[in-house]
Amino acid sequence: MTEAATQTASTATATAAWTGIRLRELSVPNRVWLSPMCQYSADEYGAPTDWHLAHYGARAAGGVGMVFVECTGVAPDMRTTTGDLGLYTENQLEGHRRLANAIRTIGSIPALQLGAAGRKSSHGVPWDNTGTRSPLAPENGGWQPIGPSPVPFADLAVPAEMTAADGARVLGDLEQAARYAHRAGYEALEFHGANGYLLHEFLSPLANHRTDEWGGDLEGRMRFPLEMVRALRSGWPEDKPLLLRLPAEDLMDGGLTVEDMLQVASRMTAAGVDMVDLSSGALSPAARRLTEPLHNAAYGPRFRAAGIRTAASGLLTEAHQLDEAIPGLVDAVLVGRAILRDPYWALRARNAEPRESWPKQYHRAF
Ligand SMILES: Cc1cc2nc3c(=O)[nH]c(=O)nc-3n(C[C@H](O)[C@H](O)[C@H](O)COP(=O)(O)O)c2cc1C
Repeated sequence: MTEAATQTASTATATAAWTGIRLRELSVPNRVWLSPMCQYSADEYGAPTDWHLAHYGARAAGGVGMVFVECTGVAPDMRTTTGDLGLYTENQLEGHRRLANAIRTIGSIPALQLGAAGRKSSHGVPWDNTGTRSPLAPENGGWQPIGPSPVPFADLAVPAEMTAADGARVLGDLEQAARYAHRAGYEALEFHGANGYLLHEFLSPLANHRTDEWGGDLEGRMRFPLEMVRALRSGWPEDKPLLLRLPAEDLMDGGLTVEDMLQVASRMTAAGVDMVDLSSGALSPAARRLTEPLHNAAYGPRFRAAGIRTAASGLLTEAHQLDEAIPGLVDAVLVGRAILRDPYWALRARNAEPRESWPKQYHRAF
């Protein structure tokens, strides 16, 4: 067990973290949210299963202001693995409707992260001991990834360079998936534009070697990503918030810098993004790994100084760190592994009178 895994929420009380925040017409009761985390447990059609209902249901009872359902592919070839959730058919819609409804009924706000994996797709699930280290063979359901340039992620398949037709198809998939997410009842939508997935690949000069209008300088490299955000916005209602997960930098020589990402975040905000959610690195296994507590939140002040509402995830494991993060660094935090280990982490961190915060079904436990 890692050191982080042995840490638990301490008894400090954070105040600003528990105040509400309004994103467009959505009122979120607090600023501590479940970070999207793939469960690799979709059924054979990419739809949510009983596992998702139980997993997200427990976390919806656990005091977080929003529950972000894991990265959900906008097309079959935009999933990372065959266990990923998808949202590209009517059949998948019904399972998402049930999941969003369960999260709301149990006590949180249902939110969804949509993703397009690009070159970092078609690999094994983490527990089969391959993960992103080797491509999924066609006989096991693998497929040909596409990306901005024929530059692979580590030993995964070399992606096919995206054509104009591929781009148009992906934009259509994004718009359709956003429409499905609304119909399923999700109240907030996040798009995964970090960790080496398609949007990040277009932005980074290390993955985008194109010489056409989708490549070249930062302006060119952000052209398709901006189209992606506009496509999502056109399928997603005006009154609902759209968040974008972005790296604060590539953490690699020759990669995206914080200055680049400040420009990108400003342009994305102008295109309809209501909040950026910082998650840096992972463009390739060579990217430096941040290991300090609150590492992504530490970039927050620079983004907020540019007028961008900013959230972050990354090694927030103890309640007192909420006070360090909010309001000084970021507007909200997304907590991942601490809430995988303990669905009630946020309730414990809040440390309020149990009858005011815990589900009424549990009051006799106190
Ligand atoms: C099992 C697992 C699955 C993850 N899946 C996703 C995902 O679907 N989308 C995403 O943006 N990040 C994903 N992440 C990253 C987390 O959302 C989070 O940003 C990261 O774990 C750092 O936060 P933490 O230190 O609080 O865990 C995943 C992390 C884990 C551990």
